[in-house]
Amino acid sequence: MTRTFPAGGSGPLVLVLHGPNLGALGRRDPAQYGALDLDQVMARVGKLAGELGLAVEGLQSDHEGELVEALLAARGRGVAAVVLNPGALAHTSYAVRDAVQAAGVPVVEVHLSNVHARERWRRHLAIAPAAAGVVAGFGPASYELGLRAAADLLARRG
Ligand code: DQA
Repeated sequence: MTRTFPAGGSGPLVLVLHGPNLGALGRRDPAQYGALDLDQVMARVGKLAGELGLAVEGLQSDHEGELVEALLAARGRGVAAVVLNPGALAHTSYAVRDAVQAAGVPVVEVHLSNVHARERWRRHLAIAPAAAGVVAGFGPASYELGLRAAADLLARRG
C-alpha cells in the first residue's frame, strides 16, 4: 500500500519517505518502534518543519520501486532534501541505494530503532554509504533529528 502526506508549510521542500511496514507504526512492535502511528510521526515532523522554516511532504510505500521513483523524481519536483526511513530495504536494497546516489539532493537516512543493537543482519546498511548521514535509535525523534540534519545541510549549502 502507498500513503501520501501532502505538502504543508513554506520554505525549501523536504520529502519524508517511509519504506515497507512503516504504515503499521503504532501497532507494530511498539517496544522497538514506539507507540506513535505514522500520522502522529508526520504531525511532529510537520510542526518542527514549521519551526525550521521548511515545507514538508511525506510518502509511505511498501514497494521498493515506488521509493526509487520518488527519489529519482524528487529534484525535478523541487524537493531540496529527503529524509528516508527505508525499513528493511535499508539492509538489502542496492536499487534504493543507486536511487539515493542519483537523486541529486541530500538524503538523510533515519531509523526509529538502533539497528546496530539488534539482530546481526540489521547491522548491514546497504543504502547508508550513499546517504549524507544516518540517525538511528531515537524512536520517532529520529525523524526530527533527521529533519534537523537536512536543515543544517541545506543551510550550509546556501
Ligand atoms: C527500521 C529498522 C529496520 O531494520 C526494520 O526492518 C524496519 C524499521 C527502523 O526504523 O528502526 O522496518 O527501519
